[in-house]
Amino acid sequence: MRTIIEPFRIKMTEPLKLISREERIKALDKAYHNVFLLDAEDCCVDLLTDSGTGAMSVQQWAAMMLGDESYAGSKSWKKFESTIKKITNIKYVLPTHQGRAAESILAQTRITQGDIIPNNNHFDTTRANIEFAGAQAVDLVCDSGLDAKLDIPFKGNMDVKKLEHCITTHGREKIPFCMITVTNNTGGGQPVSLENIRNIKAVLNKFDIPLVIDACRFAENAYFIKEREAGYADRSLLEIAQELFSYADAATMSCKKDGLSNIGGFLICNNEQWAEEFKNALIMREGFPTYGGLAGRDLEAIAVGLMEALELDYQVYRHATVLYLSDRLEKTGIPYVRPAGGHAVFLDAKEFVPHIPQSQYPGIGLVNSIYIEGGVRGVELGSVMFGRIDDSGKETPAALELVRLAFPRRVYTQSHFDYLIEVIEEVWKNRGSISGYQITYQPKYLRHFSCHFKVIR
Ligand code: F0G
Repeated sequence: MRTIIEPFRIKMTEPLKLISREERIKALDKAYHNVFLLDAEDCCVDLLTDSGTGAMSVQQWAAMMLGDESYAGSKSWKKFESTIKKITNIKYVLPTHQGRAAESILAQTRITQGDIIPNNNHFDTTRANIEFAGAQAVDLVCDSGLDAKLDIPFKGNMDVKKLEHCITTHGREKIPFCMITVTNNTGGGQPVSLENIRNIKAVLNKFDIPLVIDACRFAENAYFIKEREAGYADRSLLEIAQELFSYADAATMSCKKDGLSNIGGFLICNNEQWAEEFKNALIMREGFPTYGGLAGRDLEAIAVGLMEALELDYQVYRHATVLYLSDRLEKTGIPYVRPAGGHAVFLDAKEFVPHIPQSQYPGIGLVNSIYIEGGVRGVELGSVMFGRIDDSGKETPAALELVRLAFPRRVYTQSHFDYLIEVIEEVWKNRGSISGYQITYQPKYLRHFSCHFKVIR
């Protein structure tokens, strides 16, 4: 059969409501034109994030009932730890309440003022944690990763020459570790090849620099490797993930993505001294090392979810939904990041609304128009999220102005995507009328979450 079906059926439903266009305009006005400040019930199809928004399976819900809520050494912790060790073969496992808590512990224990931390592209919370610890977060994605139109298989790869140059310019002692994000969320959800990771590792080994994987979407990355990298077609997703982690000295993880859970994360490493320092920080911030910031039932749900994310039919279906949308955009000529990413389709706002200069945040104009048109919530990944502001207040725009439509896992059906396509096509027809925005309030860190905007008329 040619049709790829959802490899599940629905047992429980949650109602969706579509408020009127006038109500949507009012709601956005009240939210200072920042979709993060909207009420979720005013969003009909919510594609703000794929993080913690997925539907759990019956196996996960059943496992939750087995949650052992003992403070120390619970059965649930043992399942959590052994599942992570099975996938990663990494020695020390520390549970955290989500990915950014793992990043914070890593940054606070391993970074000193003035350090440099390379990555293909840092995600916003990773960057914020690194900068808060006094280091510089440097993005070294390959040049093709910055070309939204280029359709090549591994646009999340790091430029190994740039990495070597970065190390020799700043000196090994300034670089306590190097990161690689799989898939590269900031750069359009693009995968990283194992060949690239091996090459990165070879450079890092020369200088004795540890590699830390930001593993949030490791299972989606494993599927891309199986599909696209020579020599991996016959390997299981678990085997590919095991190889991926075999190159890592440590990893940070948000289980809200490929843990298929609504909360949770972890920090893992092989170095005993790192583990000791992580553990001390964990106890102060998150909780005892056998539960981190999580309930026993969360540990159970994650242990099941991590393995479900590595099931082939689940990944086949997930990628088919992403391609369903991107194929339609391709046919209509709507600009998006090619090829489509693992967890999301990223519209290219620079191309979609070329009349809006980067200083007026084209991504915000596009996100807000999509919300007004159909009550669909996406998110800007452009200059509001990644623009740099120097001490004099001068702003350097981001390399890409993207609008991410992230797909919650196992939540929406094909008709939701048909509706979404209709909404985007309508916005595309009327794109000439989309306005730019100006920021009227912003905090110092992670401004996109809470800043206020005003329409430029
Ligand atoms: N790293 C990456 C690549 C991420 O995408 C995220 C979260 C994190 C780290 C932090 O994890 O949310 O559990 O603290 N990304 C979400 C998103 C928020 O919408 O892309 P967290």
